[in-house]
Amino acid sequence: MARETWATRTGFILAAAGSAVGLGNIWRFPWMTAENGGSAFLLVYLVIVLGVGVPGLLGEFVIGRRARRNPVGALRDLSGSQVWAAVGGISAITGVALLSFYSVVGGWILRYLLVSLAGPVTGGAAYLADPGAYFEGISFGVGAAGYHLLFLALTGLIVLGGVRRGIELGTKVMMPAVLALLVGMAVWVSTRSGAGAGYDFFLAFDLGTIRTNFFSILGPAAGQALFTLSVGAGTMITYASYIGEDRSLPFDGSVIALLNTGVGVLAGLVIFPLLFSQGIDPGSGGPGTLFVGIAGAFGALPGGEALSILFFGVVAFAALSSSISMLEIPVAVLVDEVGWSRRRAVGTLLALVATTGTITAFQPGLFDFVSGTLVDLLLTGGLLAFLIFTGWVLGRDAVAEYVTGAGSVASRLATPWLFTVGVVIPVFLTFTLLTTAGVDARLGFWPTVVAAVVAVAVVLAGLRRQATV
Ligand code: PHE
Repeated sequence: MARETWATRTGFILAAAGSAVGLGNIWRFPWMTAENGGSAFLLVYLVIVLGVGVPGLLGEFVIGRRARRNPVGALRDLSGSQVWAAVGGISAITGVALLSFYSVVGGWILRYLLVSLAGPVTGGAAYLADPGAYFEGISFGVGAAGYHLLFLALTGLIVLGGVRRGIELGTKVMMPAVLALLVGMAVWVSTRSGAGAGYDFFLAFDLGTIRTNFFSILGPAAGQALFTLSVGAGTMITYASYIGEDRSLPFDGSVIALLNTGVGVLAGLVIFPLLFSQGIDPGSGGPGTLFVGIAGAFGALPGGEALSILFFGVVAFAALSSSISMLEIPVAVLVDEVGWSRRRAVGTLLALVATTGTITAFQPGLFDFVSGTLVDLLLTGGLLAFLIFTGWVLGRDAVAEYVTGAGSVASRLATPWLFTVGVVIPVFLTFTLLTTAGVDARLGFWPTVVAAVVAVAVVLAGLRRQATV
């Protein structure tokens, strides 16, 4: 049977960009930046997006298109080993973990959208009076769980319809809308008094701060860079499994990364000046940073009421085009590998995430852990495994896949790319994992680097042995 492919030539790039652009850019990015000291975080994050995120994205594309399978089937078929199939299986778990908090945040967005829509009837949206207190009141508990279920149900409905319908078309509208809205708001915000301190916080790039905080920033910055590009979870393996050979992977990957980073930076250019102009300490907001920062603005903006509906509507759409890509990972595994019908897979997974997400919606501490550290660890570890696979199991085959459909400039980068994903990035990601575990504090910088190199070397030696027996 021919495998389903994207409906239009641009279908893949739209769907992949739709997966990348989401709450990661608009909600998690401002939160993580605020929590990790502003501009220092931004700089480290941008370097990782470019140096690790983009090559990593290409690694997942290569695996997906080569195998034309979900992460489990892809790693098994391309290696012939059940161990690699089990490694691919971690993506299914990652998909469930991601959805367990993402749909809670998606629920918050839906609630803000509905409250904005009700604004004209209720005499102004309820969050306007005191944005901070409003967010406090609704972010966890029964209401949060209810809206989480609503968001999850919408996600399930779209995924049930298959991968091509709706998403491709919707993303075509959403992407320009997000960009136009954010640019417009960024320009307006720049005229507010007090905005300057926000730009300082976000863009000052003080090298001293970066140097002192580098190791504590590294883990969160890497996690955020991967999260925002949807890398490390197997999403991009799954999506690339539906594309033909005519697409240039390096081209598509670069466009997606550029668009995605643009949306994140623009969101920062809106949120931080807004926070400072309202006298709110950016570090105090936690996961509420976006909501508290932006809600007040709609009260002050001319036409704020209509704009708030547009804003939360567009963000809700961006969130859905990402959440469906999270659900699609375990769905593809169950359908392809276990032989379940799409309906049964979606139904079972919805029941599972309805439960895990409801627990998360009641526990702020658990929410912070799952949406913060756990995501950082799962995506960093996931990408590490995918890239070792690309570099050492696929090897030259990865280069062949990379250059298929690619132009001559991109093709010349294929071999350096293979070295980067096979050696440099695995050492870097291992180092990052060690810093997250606090090893650098105990051992110091160089011993930690050595530990990372040794760890990667041991894994590679193990791989060789397995291949020769
Ligand atoms: N990149 C998405 C966002 O920014 C989140 C995501 C992560 C989606 C991993 C799929 C896999 O919202």
